[in-house]
Amino acid sequence: MLKTIIFGASIMTVATAYAAAPDDAILYRQDVMHTIGANAHAMNLIAEGQIPYSAAFATHANLVASAATLAVDAFRQNTHGQGKEKTTAKAEVWQDWAKFEEGLKLLEERAKTVATLAASGGAAAAKGALGELFKTCKGCHDDYRTK
Ligand code: HEC
Repeated sequence: MLKTIIFGASIMTVATAYAAAPDDAILYRQDVMHTIGANAHAMNLIAEGQIPYSAAFATHANLVASAATLAVDAFRQNTHGQGKEKTTAKAEVWQDWAKFEEGLKLLEERAKTVATLAASGGAAAAKGALGELFKTCKGCHDDYRTK
């Protein structure tokens, strides 16, 4: 028991001390957002009837929900003013971290709702929730991304 606790504590120490090179941190969080963006776009094409693979909707919904759980850790490292990679993340991401993190939690929650509805009723059942999900993207991007 004691061993587990000590082991757990040492992992925590490593996790807080660890920082990636700024460019890698930027590219990694963009990988995560890109996965979310690509699958959200695919869901929209299916929901709008532009792509006939309706059975694929639930899989895309699961991919968004799953990638959304990676977002908080992906953004945690403050890279403002560091690195050479192009980024659209504003300094406010880290200045208002608690609020930004809340936005990512809402993203996670809403993506999960879409996935749950899609699992039983497909795109038709999830369409309303998908609209709410897209509002979450826009709401955060308006405040935290440069144009
Ligand atoms: C709580 C804030 C927040 C939410 C919610 C959010 N995003 Fe983002 N997103 C960002 C920020 C900040 C960036 C800029 C990252 C960078 O350039 O370093 C970003 C970047 C992106 C990118 C560009 C990635 C790249 O390769 O440069 C895409 C695509 C994207 N988001 C899609 C989405 C979609 C789709 C949703 C909703 C399903 C969403 N985002 C929800 C904050 C958010």
